[in-house]
Amino acid sequence: MTQALYRKWRPQLWDEVVSQEHVIQTLKNAVSGERVAHAYLFSGPRGTGKTTAARLLAKAVNCLAEEKTQRPCNECLHCLAVNENRFMDLIEIDAASNTSVEDVRDLRDKINFSPSQGTYKVYIIDEVHMLSTAAFNALLKTLEEPPPHAIFILATTEIHKIPSTVLSRCQRHEFRRVPLGEITRRLDEICKTENIKARPDALNLIARQSSGGMRDAISLLDQLASTGEEITLELAQTVLGTATNQAVIALIQAVVDREPSHGLDEIQHALDSGADARALARQVVDYLRNIMLVQMGNGEQVETTADVRAQMTAHARALPASDVLRMMRAFNAAATDPRGGWAPSLGLELAFAEMLELPAQAEASQAASRPAVKPAAQAEKAGAISKTPRPAGESKTTSPVTLEQVVKEWRQISALVKKANADAAALLNSSKPLEIRDGVLLVGFVSDILQEKFNRPENIELTCKAIREALQVDLPVQGVVAGGKNALPANVRPDGMVAAALENGGEIVDVQ
Ligand SMILES: Nc1ncnc2c1ncn2[C@@H]1O[C@H](COP(=O)(O)OP(=O)(O)OP(=O)(O)O)[C@@H](O)[C@H]1O
Ligand SMILES: [Mg+2]
Ligand SMILES: [Zn+2]
Repeated sequence: MTQALYRKWRPQLWDEVVSQEHVIQTLKNAVSGERVAHAYLFSGPRGTGKTTAARLLAKAVNCLAEEKTQRPCNECLHCLAVNENRFMDLIEIDAASNTSVEDVRDLRDKINFSPSQGTYKVYIIDEVHMLSTAAFNALLKTLEEPPPHAIFILATTEIHKIPSTVLSRCQRHEFRRVPLGEITRRLDEICKTENIKARPDALNLIARQSSGGMRDAISLLDQLASTGEEITLELAQTVLGTATNQAVIALIQAVVDREPSHGLDEIQHALDSGADARALARQVVDYLRNIMLVQMGNGEQVETTADVRAQMTAHARALPASDVLRMMRAFNAAATDPRGGWAPSLGLELAFAEMLELPAQAEASQAASRPAVKPAAQAEKAGAISKTPRPAGESKTTSPVTLEQVVKEWRQISALVKKANADAAALLNSSKPLEIRDGVLLVGFVSDILQEKFNRPENIELTCKAIREALQVDLPVQGVVAGGKNALPANVRPDGMVAAALENGGEIVDVQ
C-alpha cells in the first residue's frame, strides 16, 4: 500500500511548516538558545501542524548537529531515527485511547528513567483533553516536578476542556487555520512533485472545503488523485459533493415556470433517492445566494461549471431580486427547522408552496412597488409567471381557449405529439381533456400509472408544444386521474398542496 500523501508530506524541517510562523519562530529560538521549556501545550484546529511541530521539537532537542540553529538537521542518526519512527526517546501517547489514571501512572513510572538514546525524553500527548479528571491530576503531579531530561508536549483541538491547573504549567502555543492561499500553494507544490494533474480552480475548491486544515486539504487531494484522472473543477465538485444539484436547479426552474407539480415531483424524487430534506433546502439557499451575486454583478465570485453558470444567469434574469430574497428566507427556514421528523419533506414543500401561492393581485402590486432593479428582469418575470403570456395582474382563471376548442383538436394534438414521440402519443390517446381550471388544462387518465407517466416533464413539454402548434396558444397542461379513487374533488386545485397531499396518500378530514 502506498503511503498517504499527508504523511509523506509531513514537514521534516522547520521551514517546511506552512503558516504558524509565530509558533515556529519561538520554538526555533528556544532550541538555538537552549531555553526549551519542560511542558508545552499546542492547541488549534485539526490538521494545522500541532503533531508536526511537536515532532520537529522532539527531533530538534535531540539533534546531533553542531550548529544549534541548524537543528533539526534531518541528517544525523537521531534525526533519521525520529523520521523512521524508531527513536526510543520520543514517546507518543494518544490520550484518546489511554484515558485512565493507570495509563498516566504508568507514564510517570517510566519517566524517571533517563533517555536511552538522546538528550531528552519527549512525551507527546495527543488529544490531551480526552484524559479523565483523575488522569489529569496524575499528569499534573508530573508537570509540577518534571525530571530535567523530560519534555512534555500536550496537543489538543479543545483547549477549553483542559483544566486551568494544567494550563498554567505549560507554555501555550496556538495554531491557526492555514490561510486559503497557503493551502492552495502547498497543494500546487505537491501536485508538481507527485505528477498530479490538477486545475487551479479545483485546487482552490479543495482548499476552501478544508476550511484551514492542511491535512484535510491534502487528504482530499489524495482522494481525487486516486481516480487517476486530471483533477478538474467538475471532478472535484462531484467527488466532494459540492456540485450544484440538478434537483435544485429543477426546483428553481419550477418556480420560474410556475409549475408546482414539477417542483413537488423534484422534491419527492430527490428525497426518494436518498437526499436529506434539510440539506437540500440548504443547497437551494446556496444556489439562491449565487443568483443574488449574479444579480448584483458579482457573478465572477461564483465558482461553478459553465453549464450551471448559464442556468444561474438565466434564473437571475427571470427572478426579481425581491423574490430571490423571499425564497432565501423561506428555504432557509426549511433548512433550519428542527421539526419535520414525521414528514421531513414538509418544510421544503411549504417553502416551495410559499413561492407559488402568491395571488396574482399581490404579484401585480409588488411588481409596481418593486424598485427598478433591472427592467429586463421584470419584463422576463412577467412572462415567467406562467407559460401563458398575459399582463401581470390578470386573473389566473381566464384561458385563451375553451375546453371545446381543445377537445376538437385533441386528435390533431396527439398526431403532432406522435411525430416526436410515439409513446407520448399513445398516452394522449388514452386520455381525455377534462377542463381548464385556473388556466391549466386538466387531462384525465384512468390510472395513476398513466397519469404519472404523462406528467413527466418531457411529455408535458411535448403536449404543450403540440397545443401551441394546433391552437396557437400557450396552455399549461396537467395529467390527473379521472373517475378513479384518486380523482381530485372539484374544489381542490390540482397544483396545490392539498392535491399533492392527496396524491401522497393523504385524506381530507375536514373542510372549513
Ligand atoms: N502547518 C502545516 N504546514 C504544512 N503541512 C501541514 C501543516 N499542518 C498540517 N500539515 C499536513 O497535515 C498533516 C497532519 O498534520 P498534523 O498531524 O501536524 O496536524 P495536527 O494539528 O496534529 O492535527 P490533529 O489535531 O488532528 O492531531 C501533516 O502530515 C502535513 O502533511
Ligand atoms: Mg495531531
Ligand atoms: Zn539532526
